[in-house]
Amino acid sequence: MKIPHGLLLGVDLGTSSVKAVLVTGDGQTLAAGSAEYPIIQTKPGYAEQDPEAWWQAVCKAVRMAVKMYGESARITAIGLSGQMHGTVLLDGQNEVLAHAIIWADQRSAHQVQEITARVGLERLTALAGSPVATGFQAATLLWVRQERPELWRRIEHVLLPKDYLRWRMTGDLAAEPSDASGALLLDVRRRAWSDDLLSLLEIDAAWLPPLQAARAVAGTLTAEAAAELGLPAGLPVVTGAADTACSALGAGVVEPGEMLLTLSSGGQLLQPLTEVRVDPLGRAHTFCSALEPEEGAGWYQMGAILAAGLALRWLRDNVLGLTGADAYERMTAWAGEAPPGAGGLLFLPYLSGERTPHMNPEARGALLGLTGRHGRCEIARAVLEGVTFACYDAFSVLAELGAHPAAVVLAGGGAASRVWQQIVADVFGLPVRPLAVSEQSALGAAILAGAGLDWFDAAEAARAWASYGDETAPDPARHAFYQEAFGAFRTAYANNATLFGALGRLVTA
Ligand code: XUL
Repeated sequence: MKIPHGLLLGVDLGTSSVKAVLVTGDGQTLAAGSAEYPIIQTKPGYAEQDPEAWWQAVCKAVRMAVKMYGESARITAIGLSGQMHGTVLLDGQNEVLAHAIIWADQRSAHQVQEITARVGLERLTALAGSPVATGFQAATLLWVRQERPELWRRIEHVLLPKDYLRWRMTGDLAAEPSDASGALLLDVRRRAWSDDLLSLLEIDAAWLPPLQAARAVAGTLTAEAAAELGLPAGLPVVTGAADTACSALGAGVVEPGEMLLTLSSGGQLLQPLTEVRVDPLGRAHTFCSALEPEEGAGWYQMGAILAAGLALRWLRDNVLGLTGADAYERMTAWAGEAPPGAGGLLFLPYLSGERTPHMNPEARGALLGLTGRHGRCEIARAVLEGVTFACYDAFSVLAELGAHPAAVVLAGGGAASRVWQQIVADVFGLPVRPLAVSEQSALGAAILAGAGLDWFDAAEAARAWASYGDETAPDPARHAFYQEAFGAFRTAYANNATLFGALGRLVTA
């Protein structure tokens, strides 16, 4: 492969921050920047963000990366990755009408039931590839229609988060299949907006932007956006893809039979597919990948858990009150001091409900089996094990649907911890290969930018760019032990599932 001289800018709009990376044509990250924004919670269960805050953070992160590299003249194209499912509403003048309602928002539980009843679970999964969950655009739109009719009447355009960023960059409205499938309004097989779903849910098709391939050049950087970003005007901006789809590219997981486990705020377990295979029971998602079917595996099946790193953050902030940059290292070191099984302590990580396999926004967390002997080491270990059991629960669903990987690629913040790597290897009974780079979604976005310029084939670059740390092997005895502990984990949910709803109704403030 001849490596072009220019640089690719990959931008990943995450849930708590945006990451920008400057990457060479052979995948070397030369500079990076990031900037945070808050999740706005005006009521329990609400999760909103200000699209203007996203844009200001993107400008800051890009300027930071450019400053670190020293100049912007070599940047040749921009690719985008973004948090999935969320809803940005624009009026006829393309003005933002309200804060974006993001994927973590839970206000639409009633609309989730309504959509599932109206369409039917089997038909919904057959068409859209996935069950609907709270925070997904389809459910949010129904909520807006029912609860904010005055806002509903002013809507002219509905965008996904990273598609809003591209609009700010180029002035073009566009979408692509990977993120569009997460809206639950796409016909996942045809990779086109679903007339059936739109008419069943009475949503105006004219609100949704035209679809193009993730690597297609969607437009060029306007003079105004270029001035704000500190970049040359006229740079091509490729359409980009959903963060989980970009993450698979950046981690080099593009073949059926491979598996990626990302442990970041949430946890996602993903395997590429060359054809659509859905879970008729609605426990897992099948979404379009960042590749078109003629370029490689055009879809992926995914189990998503809602609290992975979030559970550790909860432990750090709300329980242990730890501060300092090394707080996560201290917690995982304590976890390493406790034995497998955490001395009989079991943690259910459903701090904000759960998607795979329960699809239950009312699920709640629990620490079960506490005795006076337990302290911070056991609790830290129970949290790591509980999150890993939840991921393994998602794995069991994918395995039932045909996944039999020989190893698991581990990515996200959790991949850095040796203790957690070993727990994942032992719970899954599979070798764990930690991804050597972080920010793989931003890297995936940069791959799409390079593919958009015809520098390379996206799947080929994904395989060539990925590098992994030392593999962690599972210990057969610990795997057998964890199989038993996993049985207890499942029983703990099953025995308490109805109690969670009742406890939720006891919340008084
Ligand atoms: C995937 C999902 C999250 C968001 C957050 O279904 O909900 O991964 O994309 O980044």
